[in-house]
Amino acid sequence: MRLLITGNTGFIGPIMTRLAKSQGHEVVGLDVGYFSDCIPEGMSDIPPDRQIWRDIRDVTAGDLDGIDAIIHLAGLSNDPMGALNAQLTYDINLDSTVRLGELAKSAGIQRFVFASSCSIYGAAGDSDAALDETAPFNPVSAYAVSKVRSEEGLSALADERFSPVFMRNATAYGVSPVRASTSW
Ligand SMILES: NC(=O)c1ccc[n+]([C@@H]2O[C@H](COP(=O)([O-])OP(=O)(O)OC[C@H]3O[C@@H](n4cnc5c(N)ncnc54)[C@H](O)[C@@H]3O)[C@@H](O)[C@H]2O)c1
Repeated sequence: MRLLITGNTGFIGPIMTRLAKSQGHEVVGLDVGYFSDCIPEGMSDIPPDRQIWRDIRDVTAGDLDGIDAIIHLAGLSNDPMGALNAQLTYDINLDSTVRLGELAKSAGIQRFVFASSCSIYGAAGDSDAALDETAPFNPVSAYAVSKVRSEEGLSALADERFSPVFMRNATAYGVSPVRASTSW
């Protein structure tokens, strides 16, 4: 399969790229490159097969030509950025995600994996009980709200032709063992 991985030069993106390539998939990366200058020399080992340097807000139908499935990681990925400018978080995380879903569906791309977040559950209250996928949402930041609404927007597109999946990941931490390449 030819996968489009957005946000491929962030923290999780290079790991996702490595995983996809290890499974034999071709990877097209798409990222605006906010962290490109943070990549140390000599740690560039996970290049995609092709890189599109583009803001997710400017994605075109042409960017999806020949793509079989999308793994959508790009976004402003934390609460403090949303506190600085909530609208920017909604523009990039919510509106662009739903628009990418619409473009994907129009292009006949059925599988769309979206990086949602466990933050949609917010503070779990007094109970020590573990939360599962049926737990109620309690988003407490613009970032978390953007993830809840993105899931809603993508779910509204779902039918037999479009099948979104949501990863509600917990917080990853530590130094990434792999870095994106700067030499495409
Ligand atoms: N890291 C975690 O613990 C965690 C947990 C749950 C969910 N997530 C979600 O997973 C995804 C990836 O997380 P991460 O930790 O790799 O984040 P990250 O911030 O390290 O990487 C995000 C990538 O998206 C790109 N990006 C940001 N705005 C963009 C735009 N307007 N257009 C194009 N590219 C843009 C950045 O350049 C960056 O490379 C995010 O959507 C995040 O919300 C992360």
